[in-house]
Amino acid sequence: MHKHHSALGLATAKRPVQPVTLLRPHAAHRAARFFVENFPGKSLYAVKANPSADLLQVLWDAGITHYDVASMGEVRLVARTLPDATLCFMHPVKAEEAIAEAYFVHGVKTFSLDSYDELLKIRRATKGAADLNLLVRLKVSSEHSKLSLATKFGTDPDELTHLLFETRQTADALGICFHVGSQAMTPAAFTDALERVRDAIVQSAVTVDVVDVGGGFPSAYPGMEPPALTTYFAAIHEKFEDLPISYSAELWCEPGRALCAEYSSVLVRVERRRGQDLYINDGAYGALFDAAHIGWTYPVRLIRQEESHAELAEFSFYGPTCDDMDFMKGPFMLPSDIQQGDFIEIGMLGAYGCAMRTGFNGFGVEDRVVVSDEPMLSLYGYGAEQAEPSNVVRL
Ligand SMILES: Cc1ncc(COP(=O)(O)O)c(C=O)c1O
Repeated sequence: MHKHHSALGLATAKRPVQPVTLLRPHAAHRAARFFVENFPGKSLYAVKANPSADLLQVLWDAGITHYDVASMGEVRLVARTLPDATLCFMHPVKAEEAIAEAYFVHGVKTFSLDSYDELLKIRRATKGAADLNLLVRLKVSSEHSKLSLATKFGTDPDELTHLLFETRQTADALGICFHVGSQAMTPAAFTDALERVRDAIVQSAVTVDVVDVGGGFPSAYPGMEPPALTTYFAAIHEKFEDLPISYSAELWCEPGRALCAEYSSVLVRVERRRGQDLYINDGAYGALFDAAHIGWTYPVRLIRQEESHAELAEFSFYGPTCDDMDFMKGPFMLPSDIQQGDFIEIGMLGAYGCAMRTGFNGFGVEDRVVVSDEPMLSLYGYGAEQAEPSNVVRL
């Protein structure tokens, strides 16, 4: 893979016609080390956030040994890329064939479920295996998070006691898991959910071996600056220690976004300016799905050899396809003299950005280049700096 120091070097030397994904392995490494060193339990990387094989290797090298996979494709990808990794199949609704292949071909022993039907499926598919770690997913609120995950999965409250009891009979290790929604803006998201875990354990009177607080750990985006991750970890640890579980019970988490948001940005070119609308060569069907569909703004900067001294103004983006929905309202703040032929770096697209690309309308092709400069925002501090309580660092 090509290397450049920064987006500017690349834009000046190559003037790329296609969007270019800029990769920052050092930023993903730093995020992974932060979780490995500071989360008071085990961190599983949620592969869906960014399934790039290069990233998987970076995370593995940084000490992430467990991977949350949600599909047969992800099971095969991680098994092929990191043969010594431990896979946890954390989608609560799986094809029976997928469970069987995961267990018998890839040695997967950890599965999540949220219904009795799924438990029966797991029993059948694994031919009554006795060495399973089964995690029952609770329904918890997404009220503190920017993206809800509250309606699709989670055991119905009136089924919970029965399901925990039945799962306990099947499992070697019984766990409880949940997901507070993505980009949780306060540690209360996790502590409230851990209260639901406490209620479930008390009501069902089962012995629980694993508590998995899921994903939802935030990253930094314009207008979304969360507290330091250490405050999340401390709050989770305190609640976990207070649960009625055995001394040897394990605490897990499944960060996706927090491990990879800073890994990638995208270098795009302005193909046309119409007033405050910029027509760029990436969009809703490329890496900007969330910018188009849920109106997220990402950090942007003009990449031009001679720095612009024009004041910043609000811009919206149109993507390259012929579709009206290929529109990112923003506002994206850029120098008011920006024009056709200029390049823009759009930051913080490592999670659920580059992973969402399609080839719609023939615009899917992109180059990937490793850069060594810093991401535009960071929750982990730059260089040797440590993350601090008010810890969003801006370039
Ligand atoms: C089961 C599960 N775990 C973890 C994650 C990762 O969440 P996040 O990227 O918000 O950390 C997801 C995301 O959808 C998920 O469904």
